[in-house]
Amino acid sequence: MIPEWFEDAKLGIFIHYGIYAVKSVAESWSFYNKRISYEDYMSQLDGFTAKNFDAQHWADLIKKSGAKYSVLTTKHHDGVALYDTKYSDLSVVKKTPAKRDIVKEFTDAVRERDIRIGMYYSLIDWSHPDYASVYEGGAVPEDLSSVNSFSNPTDGVQDEEAWKRFMEFDRNQLGEVLGNYGKVDLVWFDGDWERSAEQWQLPEFKDYLKSFNPEMIINSRLQGYGDYKTPEQGLPITRPEGPWEFCTTVNDSWGYIENDNHYKTLRQIIHMFCDCISMGGNMLLDIGPREDGCIGEKEEELLLGLGKWIRENEEAVYGTRDGVMTRYYPGGSTLSKDGETLYLFVHDKPMESICLKGLCNKIKKISVLHSGKELTWDVHGGVPWFNIPGTIWIDLTAEDCNEYTTVVKLDLEGRADMYGGSGAVVTHN
Ligand code: GLC
Repeated sequence: MIPEWFEDAKLGIFIHYGIYAVKSVAESWSFYNKRISYEDYMSQLDGFTAKNFDAQHWADLIKKSGAKYSVLTTKHHDGVALYDTKYSDLSVVKKTPAKRDIVKEFTDAVRERDIRIGMYYSLIDWSHPDYASVYEGGAVPEDLSSVNSFSNPTDGVQDEEAWKRFMEFDRNQLGEVLGNYGKVDLVWFDGDWERSAEQWQLPEFKDYLKSFNPEMIINSRLQGYGDYKTPEQGLPITRPEGPWEFCTTVNDSWGYIENDNHYKTLRQIIHMFCDCISMGGNMLLDIGPREDGCIGEKEEELLLGLGKWIRENEEAVYGTRDGVMTRYYPGGSTLSKDGETLYLFVHDKPMESICLKGLCNKIKKISVLHSGKELTWDVHGGVPWFNIPGTIWIDLTAEDCNEYTTVVKLDLEGRADMYGGSGAVVTHN
């Protein structure tokens, strides 16, 4: 069972901060995919200043976005730690002009504002000399020419001893992340796909993690040993099973990319957020600060806008559960935990009414959430003696609507009870 705070939280802010912002190249992948040489990539260490990094400002912004948790990249696949590690020199503390423990400053500021702490930690370490020592599951590929030397040996020879050393190093570094910064609420792994569960020494590895905080939530990127699913960039169409979180970016990039202006609009972000919570998921919205620690204006604007919308519609967001299926109401919805209040999301301005099908309950009241205005409604059809409900038409026009998604609240008698049948011939009248 996952702690309830996670499913109540709905919004998290993901932050990809690292040396890759210096030259504005893709985090780690840019050297892995040979868009830039490893040396050139690592030369960014000299340009990482964090000179305007203000953890208080970041934490304020996260708070104002309405997020209840935040996940920071403590170490990406490039192996550069954003914190002070005694197991390697490759950190922004030891190797960059910043000389600051970003993780420390960040966690202190975020915790002060009651925001839960999530640590992104890449299992992959493409810089560590012992990392590229084995193949996934120990299977040597037939065609060695396509092997990437950052991940695996190129000669087909595996070095189990080196892998053991790496696992020890990995545990030690993780131990720092999970042990040196106070209570960690969530650990967000990435890169499990390069090794098998056995190579990651699962499930013992998981026990080790839980020894830091038994309540700590672990994302699913741990070869099936995690607590919740993490679909990425493409919104799920079918509700993922169990707890889940959709991670996505405000533009197209995880880290800072100077010319990536392909931002989602605030309206789109709110809509996507509603789609997630309608299916019982969270959204983990990512931003990529510049190397100096500044967060872009556009990013701030989107986060603040989302936060404003959430505050106005809080009741339909925090602590709710997935709503009714979209065949009942197409715009998405949430239900209160007791199931007696239904919140419908209205993304566009209706011409005269919105339509809800299949609701068997008596309705006590319908209102617009942000204004409190009571709405009238009409029911057409229905076959009471077969328990087939009529179609509900709720009177709603553009004047009743918010600038962004409007929430219509239905107070029901009892828990929402939805008809799922295919209708019937009316045999008695
Ligand atoms: C991908 C990428 C990584 C990014 C992550 C965030 O798995 O490897 O660059 O940090 O997604 O979800």
